[in-house]
Amino acid sequence: MSREGWEAVDRYVGERLLAPDPALEQALRDSAAAGLPPIAVSPPQGKLLHLLVRIHGGRRILELGTLGGYSTIWLARALPPDGQLLSLELDPDYARVAAANIERAGLSERVSLRVGPALETLRELVREGAGPFDLVFIDADKQSTPDYFELALELTRAGSVIVTDNVVLGGALADPAAEDPRALGMRRFHELLAVEPRVSATTIQTVGSKGYDGFTLALVEGDPGS
Ligand code: SAH
Ligand code: DHB
Ligand code: MG
Repeated sequence: MSREGWEAVDRYVGERLLAPDPALEQALRDSAAAGLPPIAVSPPQGKLLHLLVRIHGGRRILELGTLGGYSTIWLARALPPDGQLLSLELDPDYARVAAANIERAGLSERVSLRVGPALETLRELVREGAGPFDLVFIDADKQSTPDYFELALELTRAGSVIVTDNVVLGGALADPAAEDPRALGMRRFHELLAVEPRVSATTIQTVGSKGYDGFTLALVEGDPGS
């Protein structure tokens, strides 16, 4: 099947299983109008993130890579009223678009944005003792994913979930000839996972309106009560 076929299935699923959501749809329109790249998670992927938060029952979410706030809104909508989401974004113009989208969605009280390189912000969060977060969504610059994952481990607890987007990169993950920094980053990420006793993880390949890619789901091991 072709990319068009994958897109048709995403549309089919969207029309049946995803309720019309004016705030999410306007967030995508305003992001496009402001010139942001069309790289937000797809609607079915957004709902997967939303369902993961509800299944897990966490109250504190950390997101890396806000873009226009589309995944942010899906995640934050899954939180209980006293839940909080912190999203990190490098680009101040993107963060302004996201803040307006989050405000329109009625989520400003639950969502905070921090602008700057995520590596620096994560180190600040570790110094501040800002953890533990119950769920971390890693979706910023792909080459830094292994560094983000290691810092995420410092900001989570036993029972936390770490979801990482764009790990398959059209199959480049398993192609030794692929040497771009993104593919190298995702291979290093998997090498880390392979020897990291603190997590249990799997990677799922996906097709859809965003082409052929995938995500990694990692559970931080240990006794959540300790
Ligand atoms: N999570 C979003 C998509 C994020 S796209 C969604 O699904 O809706 C990746 C984002 O990471 C972009 O907005 C990009 O500006 C941001 N980014 C890139 N490098 C970064 C860095 N070093 N620190 C923080 N964010 C970064
Ligand atoms: C890109 C980033 C993403 O988070 C994504 O899901 C797809 C593409 C990118 O930087 O090109
Ligand atoms: Mg992504």
